[in-house]
Amino acid sequence: MSSWNDLLKGKVAIVTGASRGLGRMDALALAEAGADVVITDILIETDEYSEIEAEKYGPMQQVMQSTNVVYANKTAQEIQKMGRRSTAVKMDVTNREQVKEVFAKVKEQYGKIDILINNAGTLDHVSQIEDQNDDFWERDLKVNLTGAYNCTKAVWPYMKEQGGGKIINMASVAGTLGGFGQASYSTTKGGLLSFTKSMALEGARHGINVNAIVPGIIATEAFKMGNAKMNERMIQRTAFKKPGEPEDIANAITFLVSDKAKYITGVGLQVSGGIELFTF
Ligand SMILES: NC(=O)c1ccc[n+]([C@@H]2O[C@H](COP(=O)([O-])OP(=O)(O)OC[C@H]3O[C@@H](n4cnc5c(N)ncnc54)[C@H](O)[C@@H]3O)[C@@H](O)[C@H]2O)c1
Repeated sequence: MSSWNDLLKGKVAIVTGASRGLGRMDALALAEAGADVVITDILIETDEYSEIEAEKYGPMQQVMQSTNVVYANKTAQEIQKMGRRSTAVKMDVTNREQVKEVFAKVKEQYGKIDILINNAGTLDHVSQIEDQNDDFWERDLKVNLTGAYNCTKAVWPYMKEQGGGKIINMASVAGTLGGFGQASYSTTKGGLLSFTKSMALEGARHGINVNAIVPGIIATEAFKMGNAKMNERMIQRTAFKKPGEPEDIANAITFLVSDKAKYITGVGLQVSGGIELFTF
């Protein structure tokens, strides 16, 4: 029986969109459980952020970069201090070639890839259908849905070759319940849940578990940047009447990617404080 101590000892993980928020906390939690972790994101502290990128990636990324809410290198250093290996790498999940190159380099430098957390996502496109921005509709599909596809496809041969692996897709209750003003976002998150099930079926014969996390309202920097009144209404819909903390998500992920969860695949685990429950 595997031990709860050093649950992920000797494992190698890649987390996408890990320069802040849930991805950063996931990376720290995986490392605390014993894994070496590669941090990837479009934003890295030391990087020049070009105007072209600013336009492509959207307003939230510009704000985060200009207000220094980018902790990719810092997170890697914190992990190294825990005695694990860690690197921060600039990687855009929509850039298929870049994803393949980064994964090949991780395999070369770390020897294997056991865990992939498809966390990168866009949260800054909120408007009703008449005002949905066509470019951001395309961007949201590319980042949230195709990005997870690109990374899964890139890691698959390595996991297959080594006889197993764990993949987590970051969905949302917007994908199960829908979201007012979230046409593109909810569509991508619903799609991720179907993608998770198909990959779980294909992965089982190779020892690859594929699951999704379905967060509700989690108090990340990105969430706090949203409309305060709207956020409060969402919080009041939860059974606990409060938002979750990033570590609530990270703990669930750490369990799901461990051998303690070896018979779990194809699920969308709600970590939502009961937001989907019938309240009155
Ligand atoms: N916070 C919540 O309440 C909540 C709820 C449900 C689901 N989620 C999901 O959890 C994930 C993380 O959310 P968060 O609150 O930490 O948001 P966040 O905006 O802080 O994190 C998203 C990260 O993805 C990165 N990113 C964006 N586009 C990218 C690209 N093309 N390639 C690589 N990285 C890219 C961003 O730079 C950022 O670091 C997202 O997928 C989000 O949809 C969050």
